[in-house]
Amino acid sequence: MAEPTTGIRRLPDLVNDVAEVLITEAQVRAKVVEMAADLSRDYADRDLTLVSVLKGSLPFMADLMRAITIPVQIDLMEVSSYGGTSTETSGLVRILKDLSSSVEGRDVLIVEDIIDTGLTLNYLQRYLRGKNPASLRICALLDKPARRLASIEIDYRGFTIPDRFVVGYGLDYGEFYRNLPYIGVLKPEVYTAS
Ligand code: IMP
Ligand code: MG
Repeated sequence: MAEPTTGIRRLPDLVNDVAEVLITEAQVRAKVVEMAADLSRDYADRDLTLVSVLKGSLPFMADLMRAITIPVQIDLMEVSSYGGTSTETSGLVRILKDLSSSVEGRDVLIVEDIIDTGLTLNYLQRYLRGKNPASLRICALLDKPARRLASIEIDYRGFTIPDRFVVGYGLDYGEFYRNLPYIGVLKPEVYTAS
């Protein structure tokens, strides 16, 4: 394999970098099934499109859609909200990947991994409302209300978590740790090392 050309990069240690598991794999699984049951009930006989916000929502989306028991379509968007540092949002939202199909007249559910400041969702909500869906709601696995800057009504909420930077189940630090099957907090030295 080619040697990295710039500097020496410390690769994460998936096991030893984790200080604490906040939400276990089993807890995540149970919650996703519960949320899917609510959605299957609420959207029965509707025209549901799940819009996942990449990359963080990928595992949540994949598990949620498979637990939903009614017909559903999916679409994917990718936005970047972190022009700041790897743990602080900049408030700037850029669309890296737009919807593939029209959502006009459809019941759209935004599927998000986490709502922190709410700035990303606030932007996305306004953007998607402009596409004239029949309805627009929000489903978020994690809600971190302590740092909210834009008020957001979350229609389907998995867990409310304290003001800590979390990784796993899609959530990253420096693009790593997304593949952890649980949600956890890294050791302080991991955050300060980069
Ligand atoms: P917001 O715009 O501040 O609500 O941030 C939304 C996005 O920031 C999320 O979709 C995540 O990608 C990222 N984010 C916010 N908090 C965390 C965290 O604790 N861990 C990892 N990513 C986070
Ligand atoms: Mg995200």
